[in-house]
Amino acid sequence: MIKAETIAEVRAQVRAWKQQGLTVGLVPTMGYLHEGHASLVDRAVAQCDRVVVSDFVNPTQFGPGEDLEAYPRDFDRDCALLEAHGCHLVFHPSVEEMYAPGAATYVEIQSEMPRQLCGQTRPIHFRGVCTVVSKLFHIVTPDKAFFGQKDAQQLAIIRRMVRDLSYGIEIVGCPIVREEDGLAKSSRNTYLNPQERQAALVLSQAVALGQKMAQEGETDAEKIVGAMRAHIEKEPLARIDYVSAVDGETMEPVREMKGLVLVAMAVYIGKTRLIDNFEVGREAV
Ligand code: PAJ
Repeated sequence: MIKAETIAEVRAQVRAWKQQGLTVGLVPTMGYLHEGHASLVDRAVAQCDRVVVSDFVNPTQFGPGEDLEAYPRDFDRDCALLEAHGCHLVFHPSVEEMYAPGAATYVEIQSEMPRQLCGQTRPIHFRGVCTVVSKLFHIVTPDKAFFGQKDAQQLAIIRRMVRDLSYGIEIVGCPIVREEDGLAKSSRNTYLNPQERQAALVLSQAVALGQKMAQEGETDAEKIVGAMRAHIEKEPLARIDYVSAVDGETMEPVREMKGLVLVAMAVYIGKTRLIDNFEVGREAV
C-alpha cells in the first residue's frame, strides 16, 4: 500500500493507473477507522481496480466549540486496517497541504438541504464537507466514490453536488455497520464511558422502533417520530438534538410516510453527539 502525503504524489500515481486502463475508487474518511469504514473499502475493492482512501480530519467542517482537536487519530492503526482490506493508496495530507494559506473558496449548496437536520446546529458543517470532498474529487478523479448511509444527509448532499457540478463520478451508498448490540459504529463512540455506551443504545432502539411502526403500516410521520422521541427521552443521559422525518432526497420535512423518507436523529449522550437513521421506500424509487 502506498502512503502519500502530497497532492502531487496522488496525482502522479492515479495518472499512471489510468494510463494502464485501470478504474479508481475513492473512500473519503477522517481516519480512526472501524468496520464501518472497512465495509466501504471492501465495496470499493470489489468494484474498482485501484482503491484510494483519504485519511484527513477536515478542519473546515468543524464549527467553533466542536471536537476538532479532540477528534481521535491513529494513522498507524488505520494503515494496518487499510492494508488488510486491500487498499492501494492512503492519502494522509497535512492541513497545510489541503488548504494553502489564504484558501477562501468553498463549495456550498444554496438550498435548505444543508440547513436541515444536522445543519440546524452545525451551520457550516456541510460547506466544509462539500469543499473537502470536492477537492478530493479533483485530486483523485475517481470513477466511483463510496459513502456510508450512516451519514445519510451527507450522502444526499454529495449526490446533489455531483449532479449540480457535473462531476461524472458514480456515488455508491453503503449500509450502516453496527456493533452487535445495535449501536452504529462511529469514531466518536470512543468518547463514551461504559455507562454512556449503554445509554447510547437508545438511538438504535429508536431506529428499530420507528422501522417496525413503518413496516406495520403507520403512515403518520409525526407518530413515528413522537414514539422514537418518547423512547429516547426515557434515558436520563440522552439529550435530543433532533429526530425528524424528511424527504430522502431534498431533506425537506414530511408529515406522511410516502415515497422515499429518511427518519434521522442526532442525540447527545453526555457530551458526545451521535447520529443514526433509517430509510423507508428506497426500493419504490
Ligand atoms: P468519517 O466520519 O470518517 O466517515 C467516512 C465514511 O465512512 C462516511 O461515508 C461515513 O458515512 C462512513 N461510515 C462511518 N461510520 C459508518 C458505519 N457505521 N457504517 C457505514 N458507513 C460508515 O464522513 C466523514 O468522515 C467526513 O465527513 C468526510 C466525508 C470524509 C469528509 O471530511
